[in-house]
Amino acid sequence: MQHPHDYIEDSNTSDNPEFANLLDQAISRRTVLKGGAGLTAMAMFGALPMMGNGAFAKTTAGAMNLPRPQSLKFKAVPHYTGNEMMVAEGYTAKAFLHLGEPLVDGIEPFRDDRKHSGESFMYRMGDNHDGMNFYGMSNGKFDPHQSNRGLFAINHEYTNDNLHPMGMYTQEDTNAAAIYRKKRLAMDVRRDANAHGVSVVELVRKDNGQFELVKNSRFNKRYTSSTMTQLSGAASGASLVQTKYDKHGKTTWGINNECGAGASPWGTYLTTEENFLNVFARGEDKAVIGAQADLALARYGLKENSTGGGYLWHTADDKDGVVADEFSRWDITARGKTAHDDYRNGFNAFGYIVEIDPFNPQAKAIKRTSLGRFAHENCAFAPAVAGKPIVFYMGDDARGEYIYKFVSKALWSPKDIGKGLKAGDKYMNEGTLYVAVFNADGTGQWRPLTMNTVKHKEYNFANQADIVVHARLAADALGATKMDRPEWVAVSPITGEVYVTLTNNSKRTPDATDAANPRSYNDKGNQHGHIICWREKDGDHAATSFNWDVYLFAAPNDLTEQNLSGLSPDNDLSSPDGLYFDPRGVLWIQTDDGAYTKTTNCMLLAALPNRVGDGKIVSTTTGKNTPVGMMASDDTLKRFFVGPKGCEVTGITMTPDLKTLFINIQHPGEDHPDVAWGAVAGGKVPRSATVMITKDDGGVILGESL
Ligand code: FEO
Ligand code: CA
Ligand code: CA
Ligand code: CA
Repeated sequence: MQHPHDYIEDSNTSDNPEFANLLDQAISRRTVLKGGAGLTAMAMFGALPMMGNGAFAKTTAGAMNLPRPQSLKFKAVPHYTGNEMMVAEGYTAKAFLHLGEPLVDGIEPFRDDRKHSGESFMYRMGDNHDGMNFYGMSNGKFDPHQSNRGLFAINHEYTNDNLHPMGMYTQEDTNAAAIYRKKRLAMDVRRDANAHGVSVVELVRKDNGQFELVKNSRFNKRYTSSTMTQLSGAASGASLVQTKYDKHGKTTWGINNECGAGASPWGTYLTTEENFLNVFARGEDKAVIGAQADLALARYGLKENSTGGGYLWHTADDKDGVVADEFSRWDITARGKTAHDDYRNGFNAFGYIVEIDPFNPQAKAIKRTSLGRFAHENCAFAPAVAGKPIVFYMGDDARGEYIYKFVSKALWSPKDIGKGLKAGDKYMNEGTLYVAVFNADGTGQWRPLTMNTVKHKEYNFANQADIVVHARLAADALGATKMDRPEWVAVSPITGEVYVTLTNNSKRTPDATDAANPRSYNDKGNQHGHIICWREKDGDHAATSFNWDVYLFAAPNDLTEQNLSGLSPDNDLSSPDGLYFDPRGVLWIQTDDGAYTKTTNCMLLAALPNRVGDGKIVSTTTGKNTPVGMMASDDTLKRFFVGPKGCEVTGITMTPDLKTLFINIQHPGEDHPDVAWGAVAGGKVPRSATVMITKDDGGVILGESL
């Protein structure tokens, strides 16, 4: 479902190759359809060794050395379109940490009339809970083996209209310039800005196994679109990020649109900035900034005389028509004498992986610019191996955007666990950013984004800061493969293979399909999405080549031409988005779907993937031949939970003892005003919240499968 605040851009006008025809040349379609001998993906890739179960478990924060279930034994949750939650038999799902819940005393509880001050959201849970991570804590310090007390870091992706007493209220000024014609109220914009960002809260487990918020904990803290944030890495201090706010380009004002999450191997939280475009506006200034800067802004979705989305934060005035920098900074029109007199570079200071140390509430959040600037979904590290680089995988979630990885220059030392942001400085400021190319023959390459390798036809990169700030332009020049909206990345702790959800792409036309993005159907493009996965050469995450296949094509089970993974009513899905390997190697898949919601609300599935190259070649309706993994079965893929109508199920983490699974319910009741899921008692306004799932016998989640 597309909403004005959930705008999905498609600014990739590059003519990067679609790898449509190569495989067709190599393998005749007719032979494939006949199931010709020797044409399985297994034959193409050869047998790949499985690593021992739990081989990497000790390197992931908090992993207990539990084996992965052999098969999924719970009873599948059926399709469901009601207003409540459904979880598998033998489990209980309970919501807490709702939108607006105060984190400290002295703040009134959430009110159904929503007349709280915007400032109060600096001390409340924000809106639209998304990625999150649980950090066990003992004696105020990170303890990866502690499950009964911990810090919880959680993203608040964006705000719904119903956050405000009058909804998305604007005043019309027909005489104003186009981007100022609709003006918002200062209090509403403050409420919006402070309900974005991250909450860090302390949680404690009660005797009944459920968690509760520790109100007034010294660790409870909000990071919002209004809090000072540091810029580190390649772009820190660069002219491209210098603004009136900081002429030295070392800090910026806020974080925005925190989507999926990640953790670092050393125990910090990695949040992301995804659809930051939504809150910016730009008037007429091409003549001032020049064609190159204009090209770069357009590549990130902000052309002259445009607003990136429906937020209009730049339009509010403080009082009596005085526009404060608090609001005007979201208008990046070059109006001042130099970049130090306005916010023309403000946009360049958003779109990063942001590191937060939940255990150090005095510290600021740090934007790790060396990992590139784009619509970051989440950030997943490869199993950390002593003496090897740290590798982070990332997707750029917009139509036709790319998949990236960052390989640190510094080599991993497990002694850095618990060293917080200092460890982040060591591993995230220096390294190489790569972008992925998926070849039609099931191989792929990583191409580095460096001054030596990037030669763009229309854009002259000045330095590495320019390359990371304009990573999309650099990736265009490298011939990266345009993907069907890369959402979450997850790395298997068993095989080391990397999985990425490609949620859907309404703009994927049949003639623009390629082997890695092979579906386009009934004028709706790739409507249901798929999950791609790859194995790095020799299992080395710093490698520059890999083998890939499509792990799973999502589709309604009865849509025969689209259902290429053999899905049944017990495990069919549309638009996979959230993705998480638990420390045992169980893959959890969440959906953010608008295409199958007449049949079922969004959901969470459990999966037991095998490995890249375990399937065969399939041919899609567009005639593309694609290696697909083993067909799904009742043993390997099953629906575990369905959320309330109108919601997205997103964000996922577990306690180290695997007895509590946390997920988030985002925007319950969207487009269904009758659904008041999460509302305060007697109220009508539905609220996003975290849901904790526990097993009724107090055991390990999916323990029945062992
Ligand atoms: Fe925030 Fe791409 O989901
Ligand atoms: Ca998402
Ligand atoms: Ca999504
Ligand atoms: Ca969403």
